[in-house]
Amino acid sequence: METSLTIDPRKCIRCGKCIRVCPVQLFSQPNPEESAAVRHPENCISCGHCVAVCRVSAILHPDYPASRVHSINRAKLPAPEDVMLLIQSRRSNRAFTDEPVPKKSLDLILEAAHRAPTASNLQQVEFTLVTDPAILRQISEISIGLFSAMARKLNNFLLKPFLKPFMPAVYKNLPRLRRLQKEFKAGQDPILRHATALLLIHTPAENRSGCQDSNLAYQNGSLMAESLGISQFYTGFLAIALQQDKKRKICKLLGIRGTVHAGMALAVPEFLFPNYIDRKEIQVRRF
Ligand SMILES: Cc1cc2nc3c(=O)[nH]c(=O)nc-3n(C[C@H](O)[C@H](O)[C@H](O)COP(=O)(O)O)c2cc1C
Repeated sequence: METSLTIDPRKCIRCGKCIRVCPVQLFSQPNPEESAAVRHPENCISCGHCVAVCRVSAILHPDYPASRVHSINRAKLPAPEDVMLLIQSRRSNRAFTDEPVPKKSLDLILEAAHRAPTASNLQQVEFTLVTDPAILRQISEISIGLFSAMARKLNNFLLKPFLKPFMPAVYKNLPRLRRLQKEFKAGQDPILRHATALLLIHTPAENRSGCQDSNLAYQNGSLMAESLGISQFYTGFLAIALQQDKKRKICKLLGIRGTVHAGMALAVPEFLFPNYIDRKEIQVRRF
């Protein structure tokens, strides 16, 4: 990406930090007595590291005018034990109320998700937030329909003998698909569990790191949700439905053109968990 980035030599204190932090070797400083110089502006990925590290505002980056640069008060950062407590407390609490998630909370969850890193700083992650109960219902309904079609195909007497040996895991999950259909018929919502909001995280189809970028965004958002006392769970069944959705019914319903990589069901919880529990023993290989 070509950028009109410049360095103000009158402000530059020649500390060399912009050179150290730039991931794409944009700057050089052959002579320590002189200010850093922009050598390869075509390499810029607009990550803004140079702007963020410069304590004298010597870097003039068109994407980061002063209004988009904020000082960090590190004394206000949560202590490691506070961060760990937030991580330990985050659970997929599915005991939802039908109270809408406050807009302020949804905005903070979106903002936290949007702040996640992206490969090559592409920042192509997009969000679709659904709070309309009729559309939420439609999404669950379409998903259940897709699961029914999938079950029918897997049980087709002509296909089954050929497919089953190659897809043992899928066939093992067939009873689960039937259970979902049964629950839905009985008025339950096994896909979104009657969540009052759904956040879909997607990228343009051609983004090769879209899945990683979106799931990093998810985790930022889910931690913010926990800190706000809002419940969330990862909509894995919906992800399977989206994979099966060759006609893109769900994407068309929501006007999504790219690929959905993650979904977060959100709701105001009926209650919060007073305890956290331990995970299985950690497996770490160290060299
Ligand atoms: C990829 C993935 C898919 C998931 N799919 C669903 C889902 O469709 N429905 C659901 O209720 N929970 C779903 N979950 C939530 C998990 O069941 C949950 O994270 C796990 O049981 C651990 O619980 P915790 O999130 O409370 O720590 C999913 C989680 C992940 C990571």
